[in-house]
Amino acid sequence: MDIDKIIAELTLEEKAGLCSGRDFWHTKGIERLGIPEVMMCDGPHGLRKQVGEGDHLGINASIETNCYPTASALASSFDRNVLHTLGTELGKECQAEHVGMLLGPGLNMKRSPLCGRNFEYFSEDPFLAGELGSAYIESLQTQGVSACVKHFAANNQETRRMSGSSQIDERTLHEIYLPAFETAVKKGKTRSVMCAYNAINGTFAAENKELLTDILRKDWGFKGFVVTDWGAVKDRVNGLLAGLDLEMPGGPGVQDARIVSAVQNGELDEAVLDEAVRHMLQFALECKGLQKEAVTVDREAHKQLTASLAEQCAVLMKNEENILPLSSNEKILYVGEFAEHPRFQGAGSSHINVPHPVSALEAAEKNGHAVSYVRGFDIHEKEDANQLVQEAVEAAKAADKVVIFAGLTDVYESEGGDRETLDMPENQLQLIDAVSGVQSNVTIVLHGGSPVEMPWINKVKAVLCMYLGGENVGTAADRLLFGEVSPSGKLAETWPIRLEDNPSYLNFPGENGVVTYAEGIYIGYRYYDKKKLDVLFPFGHGLSYADFAYSDIQISKDAFDDTETVTVTAKIKNTGSVQAKEAVQLYVKNAASGVRRPIRELRGFDKVELAPGEEKQVCFTLDNRAFAYYEPKIHDWFTESGAYTIEIGSSSRDIRLTAAVQVTGTKEIPITFTRTSTVSDLMKTEKGRSFMQNMMAARAKQSVAAAEDNVKNMGEGSDKIVKSMMYEMPLGSLVTYGAVTEEQLVGLLSMLNA
Ligand code: BGC
Repeated sequence: MDIDKIIAELTLEEKAGLCSGRDFWHTKGIERLGIPEVMMCDGPHGLRKQVGEGDHLGINASIETNCYPTASALASSFDRNVLHTLGTELGKECQAEHVGMLLGPGLNMKRSPLCGRNFEYFSEDPFLAGELGSAYIESLQTQGVSACVKHFAANNQETRRMSGSSQIDERTLHEIYLPAFETAVKKGKTRSVMCAYNAINGTFAAENKELLTDILRKDWGFKGFVVTDWGAVKDRVNGLLAGLDLEMPGGPGVQDARIVSAVQNGELDEAVLDEAVRHMLQFALECKGLQKEAVTVDREAHKQLTASLAEQCAVLMKNEENILPLSSNEKILYVGEFAEHPRFQGAGSSHINVPHPVSALEAAEKNGHAVSYVRGFDIHEKEDANQLVQEAVEAAKAADKVVIFAGLTDVYESEGGDRETLDMPENQLQLIDAVSGVQSNVTIVLHGGSPVEMPWINKVKAVLCMYLGGENVGTAADRLLFGEVSPSGKLAETWPIRLEDNPSYLNFPGENGVVTYAEGIYIGYRYYDKKKLDVLFPFGHGLSYADFAYSDIQISKDAFDDTETVTVTAKIKNTGSVQAKEAVQLYVKNAASGVRRPIRELRGFDKVELAPGEEKQVCFTLDNRAFAYYEPKIHDWFTESGAYTIEIGSSSRDIRLTAAVQVTGTKEIPITFTRTSTVSDLMKTEKGRSFMQNMMAARAKQSVAAAEDNVKNMGEGSDKIVKSMMYEMPLGSLVTYGAVTEEQLVGLLSMLNA
């Protein structure tokens, strides 16, 4: 259909109408022109399709459906295939329910473990989030359903999420908070982007031209449409001018009327409105073409799938003396109400209506694993903790091994609010303490969307983190605990020892609605590594029931420039006795640099499945972005020439193979020299160096002896001191101290800036 022709036939009112929803979950259609309305619904880890009254808080009813692991679990798979499978199956579910767009995935960075919505986000690392998010988007969209990446951008906390401003310097924004979205646009080809509620450096995302037009459309080539987060519009006309296309949810029409009058009174050029209308028409017509008839979904099969995905996401954090896996010959006791009622999803707009989640107890019974059970704690923290703990202690004494199912309950983390501490519920701490006092073989199975402190870590032998593993998390936990499958997840975020260690600690959640990202690029492991801080569990960490040997790192070339790509390969061998998967990680250790750089950054990952004794090769391709940092002086990525190290490891703190490469940067940073530029700036240029040499030579002729005497009198190391004092000198001072004349300085500056 010719979109220009449709636009020409639309009235001004119809155009304005197309830029807001019909209701909570639909765009508007125009029957006479064959424009369909499109339904969208929340995800991202299942469909929250509401047929009754809509809401964006997860309060009103939605259809019963499958609930998959949430993003913090999914990211721990370190496996694009997990996300491909999920995207594909969710796409089918959407088609079956006539849903044209699923609101997700959430690509915001985990700046602080306190963010109440971290369970919906992937990682503290932009590369990992971008790659996994793109895998999900690609597969969802292959099924003819649009993704909608959210929340663009810098929505990293829930406190004042609808009104606050995230203050971020240009480099940090581009290097940390934007790349996952960039990958979702360039690689995932997401057809929609949801703008965040918050402001960035004082301008609300919904009115932020730099974000919505300059970066998203001009720099990244985004071709889809931008929708508001629900209720994020501040000034509708400013929104359109900035590049915001669709307002959701639909309201009583006040904003549509505002658009109409803005065009009529000349405040808004109709061509700007037409652009937004064009994006919406493209979307609606595309959806119509992609809609599939009579798709059916086997809910039971998808329930099995949720278990298999959860298995691939769970992280075995600790396993002293190989206490896991459990064996059916042992007397096993399960403790903790989560064994009966697992927490498997987070609260808020992503909440899925699940008729019957499967617990570890139910799964054990089904799979013929004999376990006994005591409740140990009350999820709602209402009942007398002492009595429940006492029962658990008595039962624990009689068991060979105890597994405590613990973690954060619903009230501890949710959309709409941040946590204040990383503490687990007090009754659970009391339980773990008491049980580990009488039983030395304790395993903790953790449920929750983000890190907790573990004051008990040295009292237990194993920790298996399920995160929020979806409706069939119990089956996954059962199979992992009893060794029917080996754990293979790796942490997509650092677990600090204490909240206070987190880099954002002093600036979270900000004050008076302003949060300053003072830690800059040092988020997550970028910070902990630079500070050489001990952590509870590092980024990328996760154990297996097998062992893996890494060998034979090969690089296609060891010297190259930043316009080339290189291939890195390595061999991974399963030296254990069970079939298992290993998530192999590639980091680039940065060259000595003139700017702040993290020690290492994740630039590649791959997951391989290996039978005992089997060996496979992993292969990574690196381009310029693997070595570059974002340089505000050129508003672009920049690679410094130098020696970098390629590291391949099992975690960010378990590097197994390294290889050195020499990279040459081909871009230049233009510098403008002024009287306040320093001698050290000057010495970085060829012309500057030769000027200084000539100047020194001329001066040496005049007073070599005097200068040498002076330096000697200053004592040992004085050459160095003199040099550094001199290097710090502004060029203007060369005149003040009589080293050069005013004319010479003017000549120097014009020569340098020519
Ligand atoms: C959330 C979005 C969600 C939307 C619709 C908002 O409150 O921030 O993530 O997609 O509601 O429910």
